[in-house]
Amino acid sequence: MSHNLLKGKRGIIFGALDENSIAWKVAERAKEEGAKFVLTNAPVALRKGDIFRLAEKTGSEVISADVTQVDDLENLFQESMRLLGGKIDFILHSVGMSPNVRKGLHYTELDYNYMMKTLDVSAISLHKVLQTALHLDAMNEWGSVVALSYIAAQRTFSSYSDMAQAKAMLESIARSFGYHYGKRKKVRVNTVSQSPTITTAGQGVGGFNAFYTYANCMSPLGNASSAQCADYCITLFSDLTKMVTMQNLFHDGGYSTMGISDKLIEDCFVCQGDCHEKTKHD
Ligand code: NAI
Repeated sequence: MSHNLLKGKRGIIFGALDENSIAWKVAERAKEEGAKFVLTNAPVALRKGDIFRLAEKTGSEVISADVTQVDDLENLFQESMRLLGGKIDFILHSVGMSPNVRKGLHYTELDYNYMMKTLDVSAISLHKVLQTALHLDAMNEWGSVVALSYIAAQRTFSSYSDMAQAKAMLESIARSFGYHYGKRKKVRVNTVSQSPTITTAGQGVGGFNAFYTYANCMSPLGNASSAQCADYCITLFSDLTKMVTMQNLFHDGGYSTMGISDKLIEDCFVCQGDCHEKTKHD
């Protein structure tokens, strides 16, 4: 159902790879709410081709940009302003990738070149997007930037690997840049920390099914879906949340505040309290 929350607004949406992508759902909802926007992704994702179906469905143009390349980002902002007919009101940063996770390297055996790539693609890219937008004066006042994060920024999830550091840095960049962009241009910058979600990036993390099921059993409302995440992002792009900035906002059905739930006590805990002893002797 449309409320015209984004009527007349112009946006850039990073990260729609296929119809499971969170960015894909955000693009569909943004269209419903009256926005016009440009879709962007890395050249390799464009070669996969699904994004062009989304472009057709939403009446959008697709511009190729590797989010780590400032030249690509400059071209993206300039072309987007030209195609959309003015400055940008909202940006979704829905980008993440770790070569260490992809190659299945254990956290105690990381490749540091890969780790730099993880940080560049998944976190520093947000700084590059924001700095490029500021240099080009590409955002309207009261514009809104949302980047997607995960609770591994605060807590240890054993197989999330160097993506945990990337998410911690991403959230920190949102706070730091949020201050400067807010002071200079009244642009707000937030991260949304989303439940485990069945997507290409999500399922690339070892033990994803356990993350997903555990969080679902722990949260009083269950896991938030990608469609629900899209709804939340739309509110953050809208004028109803103008004074929200520099926040990490949990969108997780209550998971982040839980210790243990009845469901987990009933269903999962068969441990007799000797599991550490067993591990020592195994
Ligand atoms: P996805 O795999 O559909 O999206 C990740 C996107 O990043 C892809 O479109 C990919 O092409 C893009 N990307 C990778 N390298 C790039 C580069 N160099 N330049 C431009 N784009 C590049 O997966 P999903 O889950 O929709 O991920 C979106 C965001 O949500 C990511 O930041 C992810 O960490 C975050 N997130 C995902 C959760 C999950 O369980 N799926 C949970 C919490 C956060």
